[in-house]
Formats: sequence, structure tokens, C-alpha cells
Amino acid sequence: MTKINVQKAEGKLGVLVVGLGAVSTTFMTGVLMVRKGLAKPVGSMTQYDKIRVGRGADKKYLHYNEIVSMPSLNDIVFGAWDVYPANAYESAINCEVLKEKDIEPVKDELVKIVPMKAAFDKNYAKRLDGNNVKDCKDRWDMVEQIREDIRKFKAETGASRLVVLWAASTEIYVPVDEKIHYHLADLEAAMKADDREHVAPSMCYAYAALKEGAPFIMGAPNTTVDIPAMWELAEQTKLPIAGKDFKTGQTLVKSGFSPILGTRCLGLSGWFSTNILGNRDGLVLDEPANFHTKEVSKLSTLETILKPDVQPDLYGHGNDEDTQYYHKVRINYYPPRNDNKEGWDNIDIFGWMGYPMQIKINFLCRDSILAAPLCLDLVLLSDLAHRAGRYGIQRFLSFFLKAPMHDYTQGEEAVNHLYQQYTMLKNEIRELGGYEADEEID
Ligand SMILES: NC(=O)c1ccc[n+]([C@@H]2O[C@H](COP(=O)([O-])OP(=O)(O)OC[C@H]3O[C@@H](n4cnc5c(N)ncnc54)[C@H](O)[C@@H]3O)[C@@H](O)[C@H]2O)c1
Repeated sequence: MTKINVQKAEGKLGVLVVGLGAVSTTFMTGVLMVRKGLAKPVGSMTQYDKIRVGRGADKKYLHYNEIVSMPSLNDIVFGAWDVYPANAYESAINCEVLKEKDIEPVKDELVKIVPMKAAFDKNYAKRLDGNNVKDCKDRWDMVEQIREDIRKFKAETGASRLVVLWAASTEIYVPVDEKIHYHLADLEAAMKADDREHVAPSMCYAYAALKEGAPFIMGAPNTTVDIPAMWELAEQTKLPIAGKDFKTGQTLVKSGFSPILGTRCLGLSGWFSTNILGNRDGLVLDEPANFHTKEVSKLSTLETILKPDVQPDLYGHGNDEDTQYYHKVRINYYPPRNDNKEGWDNIDIFGWMGYPMQIKINFLCRDSILAAPLCLDLVLLSDLAHRAGRYGIQRFLSFFLKAPMHDYTQGEEAVNHLYQQYTMLKNEIRELGGYEADEEID
């Protein structure tokens, strides 16, 4: 097989994060602590996972950086934008995710990460009222200002490559509108016409990143790059895009647990998921228009794993129309828990002759602790994809995402099944390393 030419990871990798809140400061603090040998990057695939390459007597298990060229954590330089002016140290302290003892040793480096002014529109997140915000004439001007920020960051840090990661608040739901979001020329015209309803600030960040040569990752459920116009831009600029929504707690469990039912041909009549959450993310999601964006993302997980059209006896009962199991997701803002989200899942299943049973899952998780390693992996793997000349939607990154992007205009389906996603991830790494893709049992 022909070996794919993967450019070596040389020089600094600039990681520009939109949003300097709980997730991003936990990610940054962790990377800096690991660099000092004071913490372990638990949960990160790029730092821990070993993939089998070769078969039979030739097989061996290797870390990703033993298969393909990967940057060291020492090569990363961080930058950020936020609506609030707090630097990464102050924000990490305010967010109360990490203990001070786990922040103080890297205080000097965190203090230097001062957020650039945000490209922000209050209509997209009403509950935020920070004033570290750009003054923009229109959406096109917003793009131009972000592009200028990116260029400045690159020049100041000397980064040889960049990645832009959205870890900012969830915006209100922007439904895909064929007239605006299907063609790049229409999207650009809408930006120039200052169409604030159809062009979210996140789209301006994504557009600017791609124009400045940086892969873009959407960690929230926002529509942003999940539109054909952005796929066109990614194709034009030959850059990878990934999204949407970090798959951290409840959805990780759902996409890993639901295959049990599907594999054993057990029936499902309903799946009720609820959460309590008290951080700023929870506050923003308490607004119905913002929650709706999250709801759409969270609901999509089961659809491609337990399919009523394929198994109508097992998955075709439950809701009012009796065509599918009932699937409901709720998030409740509850300040005392802060970042320590608690999720409950009640799963109503049925077995032999239709007899009902219940499964309860209670996950007392820590939101940002689960999200931080995903930030690291998504950043490093998007950079890898870029160095390998891959562009457009990176389906092999679906493993990390709640509502993986796919070309819905061609009837393509998302892959939500955790173990299928893992196979896709492993095979991409194998291929980029010059090994054969396979589905052997390890
Ligand atoms: N932690 C998880 O498990 C998880 C999982 C999936 C998705 N997410 C998503 O990740 C995002 C970040 O979560 P968090 O807990 O860090 O939230 P957070 O509220 O602590 O941080 C988000 C930050 O983004 C800033 N912001 C909002 N709009 C901005 C803009 N236009 N430009 C620049 N900054 C902007 C806010 O001021 C805030 O400081 C949220 O959208 C959340 O839904 C988190």
C-alpha cells in the first residue's frame, strides 16, 4: 500500500481556544502541569492508548506517537478569546474545577494567557454580560478582526502551525437554512450583509480560522461548521474541520451502553436522561434557546445505534405515535453542584415475550475533567490530519464527539456507536502510519 506523506510535527503548535472558561482552563492547566511532571494526562487517547498494528506473529501494540509523528506537549503554545477579561489563572480559580494546589505551580504561565476580545453577540448567549468584546461594524468586520488576532498570535508566538478550538458557551440554536448555509458565496454575502440571524459569531471564528490556515474544532453543539458552506471552505483551504459537541459524560455512557441492548437484541421502550449542573455552562443552558442546541445534539446519539426501521419489534414502540422508543434529555441548572454534574439515566427495556425491565445509571462526574483530555486529543489529531493533507470533515474524530458531523446532504449517517467509532480512529492512525486498516479483534 502507498504510504501517506505525513509532515513531521516540527516547531510550535499554536492552540487558540475560543472561550476561557471551565473546560479550557482545565485543559490548559493540565497540559502545563503534565509538562512539569506534576500531573498525569488521564483520559487522553493520544497520551495513553496503544493500537495494535500488524497481525499474527508481526503484531505489536504502539502508542500513537510511535506510529505517526505527533507533537510533544512541550510544543504547545496557548492563546484564547473570552467575553470576560480574566486571564487563564484567574478563570481557573473562579471556575473551581481544580484545587489551588493543582493550579499554583503553573500560575506564571497561566497569568500570561490573557483573553483577546471576544467576537460576541449577546443574542446568542443572553446570560453572559462580560465586556471584553470586540466592537464590530458587521459580521464581515467580525471575521476580519478575528483573522487579525490569529495572524498576530502566530507572529508573536512563532507557532509553525495553528489549531482553533471552540470551547465557549453553547449558542442559541441556528437551524440550517439552505439559502444561506449551503454555499460559501451565500454565507459570505450574508456576512457582508450583516445577517445576524443566520451568521452566528462562532461561524465568524470558524471562517477566520480556515482562512488563516488553522483546522477548526467545534466542542459545543453549535451548527457552525456543520453546514455545506463551511465544508466548501474547508475543501478550498484544504483544512480539517471537526465537530460537534465533546462526548464527555452521559452521552459517552449512552453510546457505549446502548450497543449492549442492540447486540443482545433486547427491546427499548424509553430512555430518560436528566442532569443537574451548576457551572456557567449550566447557566447558559438554562436558557431554552441555548438548551435546544444541546438537546438536538444529545438526542441524536441513539438514533443510529438502535434503529426502529431495522428492528421494529425491538425499537419501534414507546412514544405517542408508537413508532420509536421514547428518548428524552433534560439539563437542570443547579448551582450547588458547580462543575460536578450528576447525570441519571433511566432505561426502560424489555426482554423475552415483551417483559419489562429497568436499568438505572447514576454518573457523578466532573464535566471539565472529562472534557479536558478530549480537547487535547482533538487538537493534536486535527493537527495530525492537517499534516497528512486530510481536509474537510474528519469522521475518524467522531469517537470524541456527541453529534459527529457527516454529509447529511448525501444521506450519509453519523456513526455514534462508541466501538465503531474507536475502530475508525484506530484505522486512521494505522493508515497514516503506513499500516493496513483492519477490524481484527485485539
Ligand atoms: N464539559 C463538558 O463535559 C462539555 C461537554 C460537551 C460540550 N461542552 C461545551 O463546552 C463549552 C464550554 O463549557 P464550559 O463548562 O467551559 O463553559 P464556561 O461557561 O465555563 O466557559 C465558556 C466561556 O466561553 C465564553 N464565551 C461565550 N461566547 C463567547 C464568544 N463568542 N467568544 C469568546 N468567548 C465566549 C464565556 O464567557 C465563558 O467564559 C460549552 O459550550 C459546553 O456546552 C462541555
